[in-house]
Amino acid sequence: MTIKRKGRTKNLAAGRPPTTRKPKSISRKATKALINSHHLLEKKKSQAIAKGDRAAEAAIDGEIAALGGIEKYQQASLQGQRLDRGGDSSHVLMEWIKSDGPVPSSSAGTSAETRLKMLEVGALSTTNMCSRSRLFDVERIDLNSQTDGIIQQDFMKRPLPKDESELFDIISLSLVLNFVPDAIGRGEMLLRTLDFLKQPNTDCSSELHDLFPSLFMVLPAPCVTNSRYMNEPHMETIMNTLGYVKAKSKITQRLVYYLWIRKSPVQSSSATFKKVELRSGHSRNNFAVVLRGSSG
Ligand SMILES: C[S@@+](CC[C@H](N)C(=O)[O-])C[C@H]1O[C@@H](n2cnc3c(N)ncnc32)[C@H](O)[C@@H]1O
Repeated sequence: MTIKRKGRTKNLAAGRPPTTRKPKSISRKATKALINSHHLLEKKKSQAIAKGDRAAEAAIDGEIAALGGIEKYQQASLQGQRLDRGGDSSHVLMEWIKSDGPVPSSSAGTSAETRLKMLEVGALSTTNMCSRSRLFDVERIDLNSQTDGIIQQDFMKRPLPKDESELFDIISLSLVLNFVPDAIGRGEMLLRTLDFLKQPNTDCSSELHDLFPSLFMVLPAPCVTNSRYMNEPHMETIMNTLGYVKAKSKITQRLVYYLWIRKSPVQSSSATFKKVELRSGHSRNNFAVVLRGSSG
């Protein structure tokens, strides 16, 4: 006599408890839509806060929560880092570093003193190309840490360095500046990078190239290619004013990548950049960076 087993599990994955199942993959289109909706709501929220409209702010918070909150947004961003969707953006930085000259063996090794110090703002993973390269000692922060190895911290509230040992050779702002909902906040974020980077021409902790101290910046391409208030020359002028010089750049259909080297002190502590229309047209986006005069 054969005994039939009722409800037998067909495969191991199906039998796993829900918490250990991989999150469902979201389609490319849905990922983009989710990220865009989140950015739009954050922008509306910052406008409501500026107006002191508490009711609107609460309503928008509800809409953000209904979309799944920052967790769902981060999950969508991680999907964008999958190899089949272009991979994580730091592979471009690694290509640039390698193309600039051989990476010294001391830096590639495990000695903590010789590794370059990187601050990765807006980190979603501890295993991107930079982290795996062993070239960097990476400190990772995010508004909402998803895993061990990423400190939950707002870059804009991070305590200022007490001494040189707390300064970095490189800061990564990959798809973070466009997350900031307003133009003034973006300017402040760029200005704040200077507080955490080593001074130009200081004795770099390694014999590596001329690419440090620097800022690795990644943005969705349309922020620069199709904005009413931003284009490539304008971005460069703003960065030059902050003392940065463009060392590398790359543009794909989706993203624009930059490596800005800190070359000099802030050019003019009173320089201001307002939101000025550079291109007209209905199909433009409103990405902008406003500098309200820096402290130097
Ligand atoms: C689109 S994700 C980018 C993730 C990753 N860097 C990448 O390139 O795919 C943006 C991340 O930046 C983080 N972020 C935005 N503003 C931040 C801030 N002021 N301090 C720390 N993290 C911030 C958000 O929490 C979010 O996880």
